[in-house]
Amino acid sequence: MNLIQSNQDYLQQYKNSVEDPEKFWDEVARDFVWKKKWNKVLEWDFAKPSVKWFVGGKLNITENCLDRHLKERGDQRAIIWEPSDPKDAPKSITYKELHEQVCKVANMLKNLGVKKGDRVCIYMPMIPELAYAVLACARIGAVHSVVFAGFSSGSLVDRITDSGCSAVLTTDGASRGGKRIDLKKIVDDALPKCPTVKSVVVFDCIHSKPPMQEGRDYWWHDVVNSAPSVCPAEEMDSEDLLFILYTSGSTGKPKGMVHTCGGYMVYINYTFRTAFQYKEGEVFWCTADLGWITGHSYILYGPLSAGATTVIFEGIPSWPDMGRFWQAIERHKVNIFYTAPTAIRSLQLAPLSFVEKCDLSSLRVLGSVGEPINEEAWHWYDENIGKKNCPIIDTWWQTETGGFMITPIADVTKLKPAHATLPLPGVQPAVMDENGKELTDNGVEGRLTIKFPWPSMARTIYGDHQRFRDTYFSTFPGKYFTGDGCKRDDEGYYRITGRVDDIIIVSGHNMGTAEVESAIDEHPSVVETAVVGYPHDIKGQGIYAFVICHQKPDNDEGLRGEIRETVAKIIGPIAKPDKIQFVSGLPKTRSGKIMRRILRKVAEGELSNMGDTSTLTDPAVVEEIVKGKL
Ligand code: WTA
Repeated sequence: MNLIQSNQDYLQQYKNSVEDPEKFWDEVARDFVWKKKWNKVLEWDFAKPSVKWFVGGKLNITENCLDRHLKERGDQRAIIWEPSDPKDAPKSITYKELHEQVCKVANMLKNLGVKKGDRVCIYMPMIPELAYAVLACARIGAVHSVVFAGFSSGSLVDRITDSGCSAVLTTDGASRGGKRIDLKKIVDDALPKCPTVKSVVVFDCIHSKPPMQEGRDYWWHDVVNSAPSVCPAEEMDSEDLLFILYTSGSTGKPKGMVHTCGGYMVYINYTFRTAFQYKEGEVFWCTADLGWITGHSYILYGPLSAGATTVIFEGIPSWPDMGRFWQAIERHKVNIFYTAPTAIRSLQLAPLSFVEKCDLSSLRVLGSVGEPINEEAWHWYDENIGKKNCPIIDTWWQTETGGFMITPIADVTKLKPAHATLPLPGVQPAVMDENGKELTDNGVEGRLTIKFPWPSMARTIYGDHQRFRDTYFSTFPGKYFTGDGCKRDDEGYYRITGRVDDIIIVSGHNMGTAEVESAIDEHPSVVETAVVGYPHDIKGQGIYAFVICHQKPDNDEGLRGEIRETVAKIIGPIAKPDKIQFVSGLPKTRSGKIMRRILRKVAEGELSNMGDTSTLTDPAVVEEIVKGKL
């Protein structure tokens, strides 16, 4: 199907996609390799909720990402790997080589007894082998569950046991920003609590010689190198599971979002090509980690299914210096660069000479994802990186949506800083007021819902369909609730205003306040905790914890350090609270619910008007909390 070429085109295609969604997606889906065509485009019922796309279709996503490119672009680079240390040589992997490596890893998994439908946990740094591992699972129909390699062993245990993984793919360690992380040790700490895991495959990444457990642990080079390089792609049903990816919930443990094969493939490819207006032969760099949905959809499946060259970056933007991104753009002549507002804000603080030293003339399109991009960062990105010549594609979407939902289309949509702008074809947003009424006019503010299915939406929460229904389909019956607030202006442009639930977005990563609270509570001195987000110049939102201790601490700073370490151990360093205020009580309603509204105001420094506190059991605690604000 032809890509959108103009605004008029967009309006027409959008209209078609709403008036006859089945016809629209039927046409888009024809551009792929199917082992068997679907019988029906869509079956759905948001009350259950149940959503099925391309019903009866059979495919394997890796045939679309690899095999179908071999003839035309087998020698083209599929992956450019930029190592953590710029002194090490980058690596290029052609489509032919990638195909071969994926087949080898796939055969290795089969040799270990991994079968279609089995879950495999992948806990690896950003090296090419991570991409091979993910695609190898898809090749044989095993369900991958990638866990970000910054998570602690406790977080790893939760994720492995929740989905019952039978194998773990990892490395001995990782080097990131000049620091060493012993990943195998973290896996070893986790596994005694993970009875379903039968085998562990370890890629020798930093040559740290970790202990290996006989009969359970295998070196990657021993079991992969000897595996055959031909592996037929397993036939998957459209609705078979492709992967599980965990995301934080506003209460309880992380949710294993389930994505399925057919709809995900069609939608991710379509949105990648449409939003960025990808052109044959371009180099695309998404700076996310593969441990997040952005990495799944727009480092791997989107670009590879489109036959693009995708960059995998092992390092961080600030090491060895603040020019790392710009140097790598120059080095690899990147055409489309897709990063997060938190990275832009931190790089914006560095001397501009880091940018000016680099030739960024290859850039055609810029992207942003993860949180609302503030106007200042938008303009800095536009002027200094895009040289006012590259559209900024501010993509609003979620782990749950699988792919872009509301986003400008490069060179088509008129941009407006800090606005995700307009829905892509197939996406039908509805803005709701608090009473559940749809606000149909423009110039409104409310809660963002989606009222019609799109192909890459998550189908369930692994093992907990009821939670899926409660979280996303019960607040506004008949609609998918995003958890985000938004404004729709007079032109119909959307501006996402942030979460309206107890999820905070720290450096673009979802963090459930409940999860952080329960980690802090693990510290023996702590009785109870309440966590809220507050505006943070670089991270977007910071974590502010109000903590009640058994006894007033002797050494506040010492205890703060211990609490931060406890959180790092239980969840991972990304969840460490930025501010910890010790309090003697928390503002609670008579029914025992913490009034976070009040804590949020304190954390945000809005101390003048606390609103109605009369329903609190002890209004005096508010005064104390205000006085002690950090
Ligand atoms: C936020 C990341 C404003 C939003 C792809 C959403 C954004 C949550 C944007 C999902 C954006 C993501 N503008 N807000 N362009 N992109 N968000 O699941 O609150 O890690 O609900 O998916 O990030 O985060 P997740």
